[in-house]
Amino acid sequence: MAEMKSTVENRIQTDPLVISDSFEGYSLTYFNLPLHYRDDLQSVLIPYGFVQDRIEALANQIFADLHINLPEQLICLCVLKGGYRFFSDLVSKIQLNNRLHNRRSLPMSLEFIRTQNQPNGQLEIIGLSDLHRLKNRNILIIQDIIDTSSRVEILKQKLEDFQPKSMHVVSLFKKRQSDKDCIFKPDYCGFEIPDHFVVGYALDHNEYFRDLEHICILKESAVSKYKIIDKRFAE
Ligand code: IMP
Ligand code: MG
Repeated sequence: MAEMKSTVENRIQTDPLVISDSFEGYSLTYFNLPLHYRDDLQSVLIPYGFVQDRIEALANQIFADLHINLPEQLICLCVLKGGYRFFSDLVSKIQLNNRLHNRRSLPMSLEFIRTQNQPNGQLEIIGLSDLHRLKNRNILIIQDIIDTSSRVEILKQKLEDFQPKSMHVVSLFKKRQSDKDCIFKPDYCGFEIPDHFVVGYALDHNEYFRDLEHICILKESAVSKYKIIDKRFAE
């Protein structure tokens, strides 16, 4: 019997998947959505399962690129709160790579921070009590979404001061900007999306909508319906 030759390379594209401006999302009627948000959503931009698939591709690529040996560890830095679900799923999928491969591995330690804009315009990092611990370490910043890029750029600059050995940024989403100065390019990115305000999968609007599975576009009416009650709690 002739030997079967696989000519198809199993390569997954790890550049961001580009969602075009003309795509307005899927009709809500195809999805199982919580009753409490049904009237506030315009459409489903990216279904949960699709997000999971992209995260798997990102995890595989990060594992392939950044594998290291103990005692070194990759410090996976979760930017709360919006990044918590992406962080959790990405780390789990990297762990799966660790179980499936026996020639290379990626030991990880997990850290959690919050960033808060101060009244003086400064960005404060809350949660990493000893930033000097980052000296000579490998860091992966795990971020939910990049809009104007200002937060991630300032965060990166601040962390550079502590002289890490390497620093990479992975963002699940990056908004395509036409009128804003968005020059920051994350090292890894799941989706490039149109310039809509999106919620779900831990991304919020004033602390609402984190408890929604799919990435959805908000209706205009919902923006004012869920106004900021106390600015101190805005992430
Ligand atoms: P940037 O500094 O303008 O890039 O903003 C990044 C942060 O703003 C993210 O970490 C989110 O917390 C928030 N953000 C920006 N766009 C959205 C959105 O469409 N939905 C939810 N949060 C967003
Ligand atoms: Mg927020």
